Amino acid sequence: MALEKSHSLFTLLFCLVMLSFTSTTANSGEAEALLLWKASLLNQAPLNSWSLNKATNKSPCNWTGVACNYEGSVTEINLTNVGLQGKLDNFKFSYFPSLTNLDLSNNALFGTIPSTLGNLTNLATLYLHHNILSGPIPKEIGDLKNMVQLDMSSNILTDSIPSTLGDLNKLVLLYLFNNSLSGPIPKEIGNLKNMVELHLSGNLLTGPIPPSLGDLKNLTSLQLCQNHLLGSLPQEIQSLTNLVILDLAENHLSGYLPQQIFEGKFLKKFVIFNNQLTGPIPKSLRNCTSLIRVRLEGNQLTGNMSEDFGVYPNLTYIDLSYNRLFGELSPSWAKSKNLTSLKFSGNLITGKIPQEFGQLIQLRVLNLSLNCLVGEIPQELGCLASLFNMILYGNQLSGRIPLEIGKLSNLELLDLSANNLIGSIPEQLGDCSKLHSLNLSRNHLNGSIPFQIGNLAELQNTLDLSGNMLSGEISPQLGNLHMLEILNLSHNMLTGSIPSSLEVMLSLTSVDLSYNNLVGSLPNGNAFQKGTFVGNKGLCGKSQDLQPCNSSPIHSGEQKKIHKAIILIILPLLSALFLLLLVFAISSIYHRKTKIAKEERNEMNRYPFLIWNWDGCISYEDIINATEDFDEKHCIGEGGYGRVYKAALQTGQVVAVKKLHKLEDGEQIDQKSFINEVQALTEIRHRNIVKLYGFCSHRRCMFLVYEYMERGNLANILYNEEGARELNWVKRVNIIKTVAHSLSYMHHDCVPPIVHRDISSNNVLLDSEFEPHVSDFGTARLLKPDSCNWTELAGTFGYVAPELGYTMRVTEKCDVYSFGVLALEVIIGTHPGDIISSLPSSKSGQNLQLKDLFDPRLPHPEDQVGNEVILAVSVALACINANPQTRPTMEHISRKISAGTPHFLKPFHTVELSQLMEFQL
Ligand SMILES: *[C@@H]1O[C@H](CO)[C@@H](O)[C@H](O)[C@H]1NC(C)=O
Ligand SMILES: *[C@@H]1O[C@H](CO)[C@@H](O)[C@H](O)[C@H]1NC(C)=O
Ligand SMILES: *[C@@H]1O[C@H](CO)[C@@H](O)[C@H](O)[C@H]1NC(C)=O
Ligand SMILES: *[C@@H]1O[C@H](CO)[C@@H](O)[C@H](O)[C@H]1NC(C)=O
Repeated sequence: MALEKSHSLFTLLFCLVMLSFTSTTANSGEAEALLLWKASLLNQAPLNSWSLNKATNKSPCNWTGVACNYEGSVTEINLTNVGLQGKLDNFKFSYFPSLTNLDLSNNALFGTIPSTLGNLTNLATLYLHHNILSGPIPKEIGDLKNMVQLDMSSNILTDSIPSTLGDLNKLVLLYLFNNSLSGPIPKEIGNLKNMVELHLSGNLLTGPIPPSLGDLKNLTSLQLCQNHLLGSLPQEIQSLTNLVILDLAENHLSGYLPQQIFEGKFLKKFVIFNNQLTGPIPKSLRNCTSLIRVRLEGNQLTGNMSEDFGVYPNLTYIDLSYNRLFGELSPSWAKSKNLTSLKFSGNLITGKIPQEFGQLIQLRVLNLSLNCLVGEIPQELGCLASLFNMILYGNQLSGRIPLEIGKLSNLELLDLSANNLIGSIPEQLGDCSKLHSLNLSRNHLNGSIPFQIGNLAELQNTLDLSGNMLSGEISPQLGNLHMLEILNLSHNMLTGSIPSSLEVMLSLTSVDLSYNNLVGSLPNGNAFQKGTFVGNKGLCGKSQDLQPCNSSPIHSGEQKKIHKAIILIILPLLSALFLLLLVFAISSIYHRKTKIAKEERNEMNRYPFLIWNWDGCISYEDIINATEDFDEKHCIGEGGYGRVYKAALQTGQVVAVKKLHKLEDGEQIDQKSFINEVQALTEIRHRNIVKLYGFCSHRRCMFLVYEYMERGNLANILYNEEGARELNWVKRVNIIKTVAHSLSYMHHDCVPPIVHRDISSNNVLLDSEFEPHVSDFGTARLLKPDSCNWTELAGTFGYVAPELGYTMRVTEKCDVYSFGVLALEVIIGTHPGDIISSLPSSKSGQNLQLKDLFDPRLPHPEDQVGNEVILAVSVALACINANPQTRPTMEHISRKISAGTPHFLKPFHTVELSQLMEFQL
């Protein structure tokens, strides 16, 4: 202690003495070099303090992010996340002999890394991560002999990793992940004996893992995932006994796992999924109790489930799916009390599901599908209070479905299909109120479908009860499943008529009621005309499978049934019934006019249409008639790619028709956007994405037929006094949230991901309930993961991410930017153009208040919705970060805003925007 004190006193004295000598000779060359670089940047605002005026005494030492030693020479430049845009070419590295730390991370620097970087011979840390730097890593990097930490991750660097890196023998940390580096991992990296963390994931690296990596005895983290690495794991890797994280996933590694690979005492994350590894699970795995996360899925490993695994008290995530594991499940998995995901799908596991699994109270995902499990589903699984997904399909499970499953109040996905389950469907399943998808198909279930299934209002994806022995009538309550998209009750013994209450299931895209004993006529509604009904002797209606009905479709019998339903359960049905009557009223009006006939279909075939998702009800003629050959008076809008018409078809259905522009210099551009739009849309099924019914490519014109949205686009409503007032804060927050969820769906749930590329308030349509639907995929393009995405500039001015100005690399992050602009627009009530350009500077000084942002046409938001607005603004600000890599992903945003709002302590009217910008997403 005393020693330290006297030491620091001495340092202080020394500094003072030195300062008196050197303060006048402060290195003006450094200041000038910095100013030269500043001048080359696209935006100088973040470096406002960098200037040679008044008292600065030609020293840069007081400038933002700059630190000097007592000789007045620059030792540190820290400009992380200040919004820099520009190149490094004009950075005169040779002027900074004393520089030890250079941190330019989290900006939007582009261009190449100059080889003159090699002049910074004292550099100990170099952080260039999260920029847009391209080109090779200069080999001169090997001259930086004092380098300790080097992070160039998340750029777009190319070429091979220079072997000169092997000269940096003080290096402790090397992060080059998320670039486009190719070629082999240089064996010289094995020289870096001090290395602790080596992360080269997410590149295009080829060749084997060099055995020399086994020399890095201090390594705690080795991450090489998502490359094209080949060959087997070198035995030498077993000597890395300090490893905490080993991630080699998604390569082409083959051969056996080294037997002692799990002998390190510290190993927490072992991740090797999606390789071609074979051979037995190493015996050393059994005693490796430190494990937290284990992912072995998608290899060809063999092993005995009951012998090769031990007890892992810290385990939170294990995925062994799609290997060749056999033997029985051990009850000791239940000792991993913190387990949230247990996925053993696609192996050869036999025996029963241990009842002890019911003790895994943290478990969220249980997937034992596609194995050879027998016996009953333990009722103890009803104790898994946190469970989201229970996936047990494709086994030989028998007995009844335990009633206790009804206690799983968080369950979103239940798939027990393709087993040998018997008995009836427990009505308690109707209590699983968060279910999105329910699949009990291909079992031996009998009895009727409990009407409580109609309580599952969140059921959105699938209700599949096909391939059982279900009897009785279809409950009219199923009509309450307004969000359901796929209904399959085929291959059962259902009787009676199809309740007309099902007409109001407007989200349905697929209905299969084939092979039952149903009678009567089909309900109205598109999905029913496209559905499958073969094998029902008594059904009639407008479907290719059926005879047309001879009499009016409104049977008195059906009406009776409705009366019965009203009496049985008046309250829950009142709302559905109201809709129902409405549909009846409309349908009886238009039915008089309708004469759906075969001639019309033949007519349709005469035109050389390209037809996709054709629902058989709309023909070219229908569209031409309904729009009076695209008469002005039916035009409801105009977009970049064409005009939009409202077409009220003879069938009573209203659709939106987008007629694409014909350009002078040929149809090529149109054709391209046309096909793009269609391709993207046919792959999307989401209730907040505008549905495409069909399209036509004809010599005379090209058009797309869409779901019609009553209230038109968001811009029109927002820019209209009355509309803006009707769009209160609750509705606005809902719009932001819903668009976020839809984009997250497109980016993260579609394979390949779909980038919209033109999100703006013109492309968000609202239905009668002000529920938003994302439209206009004219510029969307399938993002093939391995094709490059350089393309001509697209999008709407004012929403286009800044990097598209100079890189043309379209990524999901471009949509994130546009989403941020859109979200601000919804809050402000007008396009936030000026605010966006003033943002980088507002961070360092001039303080914009949050309350200045709110649309003045509404009273300020308060309480809960106020908090949600603040969260939305924070998210939006993160989205419009100039650096694409610093923007959050839509998935992250979507999760963030549905996770409930944080509580903001300060009253709204005192919150400053800069505070929100620091808010950690
Ligand atoms: C640096 O700033 C401090 C206070 O902010 C000031 O007292 C000092 O004179 C400045 N030094 C130079 C060299 O400008
Ligand atoms: C695992 O640990 C047990 C008890 O410590 C020991 O008896 C056994 O030999 C170990 N097994 C392996 C494969 O190291
Ligand atoms: C389980 O998780 C809790 C909370 O995250 C943590 O405090 C506890 O240490 C964990 N237990 C084990 C055995 O890892
Ligand atoms: C409905 O289920 C049956 C049997 O499970 C299956 O064969 C059929 O393809 C399914 N229908 C649709 C439209 O997917």
